[in-house]
Amino acid sequence: MASIAVVGATGNTGRATVKELKALGENPLCVVRSADKAKEVLGADANIAVADVDDRAGLEKALKGVERVFIVTGHNPKSDAQQINVIEAAKAAGAKFILKVSGGRSVVGPDAESVVGRGHHIVEEHLRKSGLAWCVLSPGLFMQNVMGQAASIKSDGKMILPFPKDLKMSFIDVRDTAAVAARILKDPSKHNGTIYDFTGEQTTYEEFAKVMSDVLGKPVTYIGASLEAAEAGMKLRNMPDWLVGHMIAIARVGAQGGFTAEKTEPVRDIVGRAPITTRQFVQDHKAVLS
Ligand SMILES: NC(=O)c1ccc[n+]([C@@H]2O[C@H](COP(=O)([O-])OP(=O)(O)OC[C@H]3O[C@@H](n4cnc5c(N)ncnc54)[C@H](OP(=O)(O)O)[C@@H]3O)[C@@H](O)[C@H]2O)c1
Repeated sequence: MASIAVVGATGNTGRATVKELKALGENPLCVVRSADKAKEVLGADANIAVADVDDRAGLEKALKGVERVFIVTGHNPKSDAQQINVIEAAKAAGAKFILKVSGGRSVVGPDAESVVGRGHHIVEEHLRKSGLAWCVLSPGLFMQNVMGQAASIKSDGKMILPFPKDLKMSFIDVRDTAAVAARILKDPSKHNGTIYDFTGEQTTYEEFAKVMSDVLGKPVTYIGASLEAAEAGMKLRNMPDWLVGHMIAIARVGAQGGFTAEKTEPVRDIVGRAPITTRQFVQDHKAVLS
């Protein structure tokens, strides 16, 4: 019987956390909605339970006997209800500790502009009152977000996002979040009731593009789009309104300095090394970006 479960194990952070937990000698239960995807992403030997986060009873069955539960599900307008399902199912199944990935602190709150930020706030409040031990991870903007620009970087050498090119930004690689998460899940005793707010080193999108040019051996230019142009582009691509609203809210928070502060201590303290740099990130994704 696994003592640790990862809900959202096929996602960016979830799959990296499963890998880290395995490296630490754990064999987590991977709670997924598709067994086929789980086998493809996590390997045929992964310890899988199939449950949808909309299905509390199914989650409770899947989590029976698990002690510690990691929640990192995708963002959408009902992610608050979905994550509350996981918390309540975990509690009913006998779990003692929940580790949740939330948004960055500048994004989360009762009056946050984005529905995602309001949702994270609701889940955090639920967790505080759950009677379970808990810990929250508040990572900075993911370096992995730039993979959404991979096609443009590859074909035109352009990265176009709605943030000024010289705006100071502190990104984080999801593998760092995973490294932090795995260590907390392995031994949660020191982390109960803590919110970890963490990032990698401070940089700018322009510097990120320079690193890409250097590592990929071809010019990559960063272009800071206006909010209006970004919004029109997303609508043209038929993105749902809530997601367009979320992306624009994130850009606004960024412009106000919400992703500027560098906070590398949690990764250093918990993992015992510096956070992954943008250079390392690009090197590791060279095949997809060039
Ligand atoms: N992007 C950022 O810059 C950033 C920064 C800070 C915090 N965050 C937060 O980080 C979280 C996203 O992390 P991520 O990028 O690692 O997530 P992700 O890659 O989108 O993964 C989401 C996971 O949830 C699973 N999932 C979604 N709907 C489900 C359902 N109905 N039933 C069961 N499983 C379901 C997905 O399964 P499938 O694989 O089957 O789809 C996947 O495993 C969000 O809460 C976001 O707000 C993001």
